Amino acid sequence: MNKRILFVCLGNICRSPAAEAIFLKEIEVNGLIKYFTVDSAGTGGWHSGNQADSRMRDAASKRGIDIQSRARKLNLKDFEKFDLILTMDNSNLSDVQSLAKKAGDKKISHIYPILKYATKTSLIEVPDPYYGGVNGFNTVLDLLQDAIEGLISSFNLDD
Ligand code: 4NP
Repeated sequence: MNKRILFVCLGNICRSPAAEAIFLKEIEVNGLIKYFTVDSAGTGGWHSGNQADSRMRDAASKRGIDIQSRARKLNLKDFEKFDLILTMDNSNLSDVQSLAKKAGDKKISHIYPILKYATKTSLIEVPDPYYGGVNGFNTVLDLLQDAIEGLISSFNLDD
């Protein structure tokens, strides 16, 4: 099995790079790296080429999570390359679904809200932490940790 997973948020500097880094850490710790390809992207391109937001990198680093990715914008080819595209909030989901229509028959990706995989919350959206304080970044990390543990346990690695 090689599952190709893309995490998507708005700017690709807060939520989706955190999701990518948590996922990478979990598959590393659990010896599952060979089964997955993982990346993240934003529906907007304002921060393309930038490191993740320093507030998110700091909050993640305190949990032993190293966010290394650089921002990039989601593009039509992503719908041919990734099996699973996981979005953060409803606006994100509808933007990704609109772009997916343009990919037409070449699209292979399944598109879901990431909190579909969370087990410890009834929230359906990961709140955008960009304009808030440090608590918002920790909330995002808690939600993503929960969802990613659920996501990883949803795969049948024998396939
Ligand atoms: P993200 O957060 O979508 O989790 O990366 C945001 C980052 C930047 C902006 C909004 C949200 N912005 O407006 O620039």
